[in-house]
Amino acid sequence: MSTFANTLIHWQRRHGRHDLPWQNTRDPYAIWIAEIMLQQTQVATVIPYYQRFIGIFPDIETLARASLDAVLALWSGLGYYTRGRNIHKAACLMVAHYQGRFPSNAAAIEQLPGIGRSTAAAIAAFAYGERCAILDGNVKRVLTRYFGINGYPGEKKTEILLWEKAESLLPQENTHDCMATYTQALMDLGALVCTRHQPQCRVCPLRSDCVAFRENRTAKLPAPKPR
Ligand code: ADE
Repeated sequence: MSTFANTLIHWQRRHGRHDLPWQNTRDPYAIWIAEIMLQQTQVATVIPYYQRFIGIFPDIETLARASLDAVLALWSGLGYYTRGRNIHKAACLMVAHYQGRFPSNAAAIEQLPGIGRSTAAAIAAFAYGERCAILDGNVKRVLTRYFGINGYPGEKKTEILLWEKAESLLPQENTHDCMATYTQALMDLGALVCTRHQPQCRVCPLRSDCVAFRENRTAKLPAPKPR
């Protein structure tokens, strides 16, 4: 049986990205820093910042002990300084309330400042192999096209529907490798194939079941903000 998840996992092993500096680690701290940097910044820009940051603040304790100014100095150039402030605040919270340990599941991770549902799920999937769905901008695009969803993804009703779809597509097999590979596959498909403009449907592993491809509507989905 070739499900959505199995198809993507196969595709990721052959065609996905495997050598990004935050891959091939299960350290939730390192994954967290990467996911926060990647929220509003391109992969190519993030890489040197990420490596510098992890080199200077290799763990929660070191980050919590540093001054906010030292953290923001390393952040300068990435923009969106609220992310840097929240990272420092979260590290201090973990030291004060969790004995310096990173929370052990997505629901607890989501309680930290600056971490929403999708980022918490990505960290838990990569670090712990937890079976939880992500839904960032790229994944919303993949799913609206795959299912032919016409609503604007920024609208609550459509977002709820997309979360339901994302949950329903999770791999049945619940191993660390399976969840990490599947999560990376969704991100990679959105970044490399199912792009906003000129998606590469010819090489897409999902095209035989994709509503937008079948109906030639990829350029119309996801729907723009209604006005
Ligand atoms: N964008 C957000 N998270 C990412 C990740 N783990 N790898 C590549 N791009 C991403």
